[in-house]
Formats: sequence, structure tokens, C-alpha cells
Amino acid sequence: MAVEFCGLRLKNPFLLASAPPTTTGEMIARAFDQGWAGAVTKSLKLDSLAIEDVTPRLAVLRDNRNRIVAMGNIELITRRPLAVWIEELKTLKKSYPDRILIASMMALSVKEDWQELTVRLQDHVDALELNFSCPHGMPEHGMGMAVGQDPSITGMITAWVKEVARVPVIVKLTPNVADIVPVARAARDAGADALTAVNTVASLVGVDLETLDPLPAVAGRGTWAGLSGPAIKPVGLRCVAQVAQATGGPVLGVGGISSWRDAAEYMAVGARAVQVGTAVMLKGYGIVGALGEGLAGYLAEKGFASAGDLVGRALPRLGAHDDLSRTSRVVFRIDPETCNRCQACVTACRDGAYQAISGEKGAVPVIAADRCDGCSLCSHVCPVPGCIAPRPVSA
Ligand SMILES: Cc1cc2nc3c(=O)[nH]c(=O)nc-3n(C[C@H](O)[C@H](O)[C@H](O)COP(=O)(O)O)c2cc1C
Ligand code: SF4
Ligand code: SF4
Repeated sequence: MAVEFCGLRLKNPFLLASAPPTTTGEMIARAFDQGWAGAVTKSLKLDSLAIEDVTPRLAVLRDNRNRIVAMGNIELITRRPLAVWIEELKTLKKSYPDRILIASMMALSVKEDWQELTVRLQDHVDALELNFSCPHGMPEHGMGMAVGQDPSITGMITAWVKEVARVPVIVKLTPNVADIVPVARAARDAGADALTAVNTVASLVGVDLETLDPLPAVAGRGTWAGLSGPAIKPVGLRCVAQVAQATGGPVLGVGGISSWRDAAEYMAVGARAVQVGTAVMLKGYGIVGALGEGLAGYLAEKGFASAGDLVGRALPRLGAHDDLSRTSRVVFRIDPETCNRCQACVTACRDGAYQAISGEKGAVPVIAADRCDGCSLCSHVCPVPGCIAPRPVSA
């Protein structure tokens, strides 16, 4: 389960993301006790940068079974003094020599500030992660996403840090750009040793229809929130794949990981290791046990000799729409043995597809192969796994 990243050995591919679960050294120590291979601190800063958080600062999106599918936050970076952090990092390094400690950092676009943070922190951590990607609060002051949306500023600050850094420097990217590739390239061209993708997705979580407060609401007012959790996984996967393809370099994947399957998917599209934030906030550090067991079982079942062997395996199959086959075509078929006659597929195909399914209440519907356009909608609305399946037809 061990993986290598920027010359560092991770005992498994699971790191805590920079988020509330890494707010203090004591919290990180408890996470290490449960088995996390490493942690990225909550973003650290110079004491001269004043940070004042608001309350409340979280809002969630639920599915119709009341499960949280996304979380929007308007939390800022650490409020704790740098000297306190440095003492805690020293203690962590001494107590957990086999774990990887990464200091996340943020500063104004001032060379001396970035270099001071680098110099003061690097003796106590294994790597530095530059937060060029927080989408709320900080961009209004030229920090976070304001940096990561501009390839030239990204390159400039990365180069400042690299000028004095003696540990690997990782740039954390924002998904809130039209094209993530130029920013990723700018960071690597300026010397970044690796990239992390992604920070949260800029969002408005909702509106309270009783009060008309935007959510999360602070004394009746709202702002743009950073969305995290399961709903952003497809955005994170896309970004990691694009960055891995464009740079070929090491990438840490983050965004919506809550199961070993999510982690394995990130690794298959190029993440050497993964970070987890929201899932730990919701379920606690203990989820690392199931993540590890699940991934180990999958690797063994698939015959991968190590976790590293999975990295990037799906990447060669990803590319432009024009490269997709026009000769391989499918139509869909219903298995009458398992169909429960709910008619969900009939409605979906009638109003959302190509009117290929006919069905009467209480009967198994029938798909007319000559009308089916192979779009797959019926198979997604069907509540019975595997009941509607594709079959190949000649083009
Ligand atoms: C409440 C909260 C606070 C966060 N604070 C930071 C931060 O200080 N620095 C940072 O780089 N990312 C921060 N993040 C972003 C996470 O590190 C991560 O990129 C994002 O949440 C997506 O991963 P997830 O879906 O596993 O949470 C924060 C996320 C949350 C939910
Ligand atoms: S694949 Fe699309 S067109 Fe074909 S039956 Fe299903 S919903 Fe209708
Ligand atoms: S949605 Fe699935 S279970 Fe329901 S009628 Fe169609 S095939 Fe049968």
C-alpha cells in the first residue's frame, strides 16, 4: 500500500486535506494514530495577516434520502499564530517520524512574505503546499484563487518559493478556471515539484425560502462558498486527469473522496496519493481503516503489485470527443426476469429520449431495437441493477 511521492515514502496513499481536521497538531496526531499516512495543515500564514472567521460558515446540500452530497464553506485560513504551529509541527515530526507532514501556506503577493513562510516552516515539514486556490474571502484580497486563476502570478509566486525552498513544493490548483492546464504548466515551469487538484468549487449552496437568506447566512447575508464533498468528485477527477496528462508530473488528488473506490478512481487517472477533507469532517478519522482495507482488497483482486501500479492506468483511454469510436454502437435490452414493472424507463425514454420503450401498467416494457438510439438513460433510471443492459449492434 506504500506509495512514493516527490521522493517521500507514504505508508499508504491517504492524506488529510488542508481543512478543519488539520486545525491543530493535536488533531493531526489523533489522525496519525488512526492510520493516516500524512496530513496537510490548515493553510498557515504570517501573524501580520489578520484572519477573522464568521459564524456560521457551513451549509450542506442533501439528497432525497437526507444524505449530505455536498458542503459549502466560507471558512478562511488558520487563525493560529505561526510560532504555535511551528512548535506543534516539531512535536509531530518527532512523535511520528514515518508520517508525511505538509504545511499549506498562504500569503499576500509579497515575495518577502512567501519566502519568510517557506524558510520558517520548511525545517519542520516534509513538503510545502501553496494554497493558490481558496475561492472565498481570500481572493478579494489578492490571495487564494486570485493567484491560481492567473498563470503568470502562479508562476511568479512559485518561483519565489522555489528560490529558498529545500523541500518539495506542491501547488494546489483551483477548478474555478476555464482551463486548468495553463495554470498547471505555469506552476511546473516555475519549478513546482508537484500539483494538488482540486480546492473547492465556487458555489452558492442555496437560499432559505422562508427568510430569503443566501446559505450559509451570516446575520442575513451570504457570499460565494467553496463546495466540497461527493458532488465535486467528477470535477476533481477531470482536473486531475487533465493535469496529469498535461504535465506528466506527480499529482495529489482531492475532492469528494469518501470511499476506497473514489480514491482508486483518482489514482487511476493519475493521482499518486489522495487527500480527504469533507468525509473526515462528517465521519471522523476512523474512515481511513475502511479506505485502506478496500483499496488493498481491490489491488489484490486486480493483480496490481502495488498501489503505485494503479496510478494513471485509465489515462491513455481519456481524450478528445473526436477520438471516440463511431463504429462501436449499442442498443439496450430489458431482462424480463428481473424487471419489477415500475415503468420508470418508459417515462424516461418517452420524455427524455427517443420513444423506443412501450409498456403497459403491470407489464414488462419492451424496447424497440430499431428506435433505440443507445443513449443509456433507461439503464440509469431503472431501480434494478443490471436489469437494462447494452448489447452491441453493427454500425
Ligand atoms: C471547511 C473547509 C475548510 C477548508 N480550508 C482549507 C484551507 O485552509 N486550505 C486549503 O488549501 N484548502 C482548504 N479546504 C479545501 C480542502 O482541502 C479540499 O481541497 C476540498 O474540501 C475538497 O476535498 P473534500 O471534498 O475531500 O473536502 C477546506 C475545505 C473545507 C470543507
Ligand atoms: S437507450 Fe435511450 S433510446 Fe434506447 S431505450 Fe433506453 S432511453 Fe430509450
Ligand atoms: S425501469 Fe427497470 S424495473 Fe422498471 S419497468 Fe423499466 S426495466 Fe423494469
